Amino acid sequence: MQSSNAKAKVFVHAEGKEFHLTNGQVSYIVRVNAEGKLLQLYYGAAVSDRDDFGYLVEMQRRSTASCPVEGNLTYSLEHLRQEFPEYGTSDYRMPAISMAQANGSRITDFRFAGYRIGGGKPKLDGLPATYVDQENEAVTLSIDLFDAPTGVTATLKYTMFATLPVIARSVSLHNGGEKAVDIERLMSLSLDLPDDDYMFTQLTGSWARERSIVRSRLHPGIQQIGSLRGSASSHIHNPAIALARPETTESHGEVIGAAFVYSGNFEAHVEVDPFAVSRLQMGIADFGFTWHLDPGSSFQSPEVVFAYTSQGYNGMSHAFHDLVRRHLVRGPWRDKERPVLINNWEATYFDFDEKKLLSIAKQAQKLGVELFVLDDGWFGERHNDTAGLGDWTPNPERLPEGLKGLAQRINDMGMMFGLWFEPEMVNKDSDLYRAHPDWMLHTPGRRASHGRNEYVLDFTNPDVVDEIYRQMHAMLSTANIGYIKWDMNRYITEAFDVTRGAEHQGEVFHRYILGVYQLHERLLNAFPNLIIEGCASGGGRFDMGMLYYTPQIWTSDDTDAVERMSIQYGTSMFYPLSAMGSHVSIVPNHQTGREVSMNTRANVAMFGTFGYELDPAALSEKELKQVADDVAFFKRHRELIHQGDFYRLVSPFERDSRRNDSVAWMVVSADRTQAIVGDYRMLEHPMSPFTRLHLQGLDPSLRYRIQVRGGASTINGMTFGGDELMRIGMLSTDASASSSAEAGSANSLGNPHDFSSRLFILSAC
Ligand code: DGJ
Repeated sequence: MQSSNAKAKVFVHAEGKEFHLTNGQVSYIVRVNAEGKLLQLYYGAAVSDRDDFGYLVEMQRRSTASCPVEGNLTYSLEHLRQEFPEYGTSDYRMPAISMAQANGSRITDFRFAGYRIGGGKPKLDGLPATYVDQENEAVTLSIDLFDAPTGVTATLKYTMFATLPVIARSVSLHNGGEKAVDIERLMSLSLDLPDDDYMFTQLTGSWARERSIVRSRLHPGIQQIGSLRGSASSHIHNPAIALARPETTESHGEVIGAAFVYSGNFEAHVEVDPFAVSRLQMGIADFGFTWHLDPGSSFQSPEVVFAYTSQGYNGMSHAFHDLVRRHLVRGPWRDKERPVLINNWEATYFDFDEKKLLSIAKQAQKLGVELFVLDDGWFGERHNDTAGLGDWTPNPERLPEGLKGLAQRINDMGMMFGLWFEPEMVNKDSDLYRAHPDWMLHTPGRRASHGRNEYVLDFTNPDVVDEIYRQMHAMLSTANIGYIKWDMNRYITEAFDVTRGAEHQGEVFHRYILGVYQLHERLLNAFPNLIIEGCASGGGRFDMGMLYYTPQIWTSDDTDAVERMSIQYGTSMFYPLSAMGSHVSIVPNHQTGREVSMNTRANVAMFGTFGYELDPAALSEKELKQVADDVAFFKRHRELIHQGDFYRLVSPFERDSRRNDSVAWMVVSADRTQAIVGDYRMLEHPMSPFTRLHLQGLDPSLRYRIQVRGGASTINGMTFGGDELMRIGMLSTDASASSSAEAGSANSLGNPHDFSSRLFILSAC
């Protein structure tokens, strides 16, 4: 039997006990055994269907094994690859579920109870999730597993997308029993792979140094990343990992990538058992988590999206980029060109008045900028970072004509107006705190920690969310505001829910994030044309959960172009360029003190949602002319940059001491007639080898004319076959002056140096 939806199908065999999901690119096969347990048989490149994949269930007698069935010494859950593993019934690895019951027991035995197959993809109530516009874009298989003693049903949902090598999986629990249970662990994805020959790839970092790529070989035991910071997936570990064969490169080799569509506490780990089976799990972090599930109630986990490709890390990135652009980002800004913006933060910090803002906006408008964003400091008594958070009304000294007046003037210049909020936080020096001290997350009788003088509002409390919604709604209604920057600068400490009892205290972190999602949803329902740009001290909440509400996210507070080469490169592993907020700022750079040319600053920022974060009055005439050129160039190419296929070519994370430290990437249009290559120098070394960039994604049968922007090259104006550029490579030696010891010996290509860069624009001719 087969249930199909265009290309995505579920073949059902073994009298409704074996399921083969496939879309011609990948296959995912699971089977129910005689004991009713759901086993994982295969995940990888698509295979043809057959009537029975049961031969893939391998069992043999193994010493020390615990065996649940009397008289059967070959059947042990420890040695089976499972879809919803449990602890305590013969499997000793990390379980997908742990549930405390009225008598204190955590033993469960979930067994197959039925399945459903439907076209499309159901919504996940209150949670961000991937979606489809048409039923034929995906097929969803739901499998029910039932634990008889508790009466709890677990439903595993698998959605296979028709044209992407991606599956979304989540789990919901329904308590149909008579007693409450406490969910202590519920992994959204649990995937047992038959071997451990993989590199574990993670994105790691800190504030201003987000998402460096780190790879390490899987080894016996558990390799884990996660966040326990409550309000964010965090700067430290991004909630996305990849498992790749050791020989995998950017363009070849098998990769399985998994990303969590969630923004709070998470864990992602791989456990390698003694038989080299690798168990990949991802879900809400179990530390500090308990969810009290009363009879008759349900709990829905967030979803994990996971992709398989044999086309290397770039292949995996393409799957996730397309998924985010087509099936995660919503609303009109999914398909519309994003405006080039100017933000006043690094230009003024807290030191501004309306006159200053208007002067920045006026000059920016002349340069072609389309959106003016007023950052922190416009509201309440917010003269510095000690006061004002929670009081979302304009400060009359700074904005004598209110938001309406300022927005009107900006609109009259022909620009959109955007505004900063930090809705989840409060300062003690605020009217909101004075009126509702209990609305700050705190544990009664204990000291409350702060960060940057701010405290976290209790978003588990619907009254708090209502009040912040009321204030934001009022501001968005008084003026024509087309964009908001939604900042969040505090991780949670002393978590406690003062409105609920002891049995609910393990719910605080998850309820907090649900409150954040709810506020986003309500605002987007009320103002569907709004662009919300996410931000969390830069890129502290750059995850697929936020991208459901915020089509773009401020990538990092580090605006230094050289730092950004690595940050944007790492971020591109899972997230598309259209999601990455990136601005040109002033030099010396405020985070590093580095001096980088305007050319390179723009060439880096253009590979994202381009904008500026400076006072144009501080620029020379020459620089202003360049800014105008850059803005015009970006507008001409932004569709290609945001919608095209992005390829990483040269990594900043893999250095070779003989070569100049470089970064290179490119983007190619869907029809493969246009491409832009970004070629960046970090540090220059003398006597570097000649270099070629092996381009990717071009049409081998087309010829391309190359124009070089922002630097010189011998190949400027020449034409090449796509096959030459990909197979022979594009010459990219930059003729460093330091290749010769003689002063003045720089050749006709100019004199590249540390932090120089060029764009190569390819047009099919
Ligand atoms: C942190 C953000 O990342 C910055 O861009 C800026 O908005 C400041 N907060 C304002 O306080």
